[in-house]
Amino acid sequence: MAEKISVLLSEEEVDKRISEIGEQITKDYAGKEVHLICVLKGGSFFMCELAKRINLPVSIDFMSVSSYGLDTKSSGVVKIIKDLDDSIKDKHVIVIEDIVDSGRTLSYLLNNLNDRKPASLALCTLLDKPERRVVEVEVDYTGFQIPDKFVVGYGLDYAQKYRTLPYIGIVEITED
Ligand code: IMP
Ligand code: MG
Repeated sequence: MAEKISVLLSEEEVDKRISEIGEQITKDYAGKEVHLICVLKGGSFFMCELAKRINLPVSIDFMSVSSYGLDTKSSGVVKIIKDLDDSIKDKHVIVIEDIVDSGRTLSYLLNNLNDRKPASLALCTLLDKPERRVVEVEVDYTGFQIPDKFVVGYGLDYAQKYRTLPYIGIVEITED
């Protein structure tokens, strides 16, 4: 079995869209400082590109989470592998994700962060697969809505591979 990657969103399309989101955030948070929280590892490529295009004071922090038993319906419990370095109290926080799929991880994470009393809390994702949603999450900024296909690149991996592709590709498994 081998994998073939076909381009879903080109480097140019992704780049242009990230600039648009950067401009939108710059407008929406005018006069404020924004604190970006990257959900590792997938969100890191997107966050770095986006952060450069927000024309406001920006600070960053990182969080790593793993989902317990996503194959069981009762899940939604997430283990924090790496917590934030800094307090988010009274900060304007934007969580940066690579993709919202079932919504389970984000739903847990947003509740957890909300308990820490930020001044505001928003969610920004490069990709969204709305067809896959199990738990409702409110997404404030979306790069692209995509069909229910497994995608890689721009931080997204398939068994830790393909994160560094500069575009978003669909993984196809072939026989040879
Ligand atoms: P969920 O929204 O809780 O189901 O979890 C979303 C997480 O699953 C993402 O942050 C990714 O790490 C992973 N994921 C979901 N769909 C894809 C995909 O198409 N490619 C790579 N990773 C994915
Ligand atoms: Mg992720």
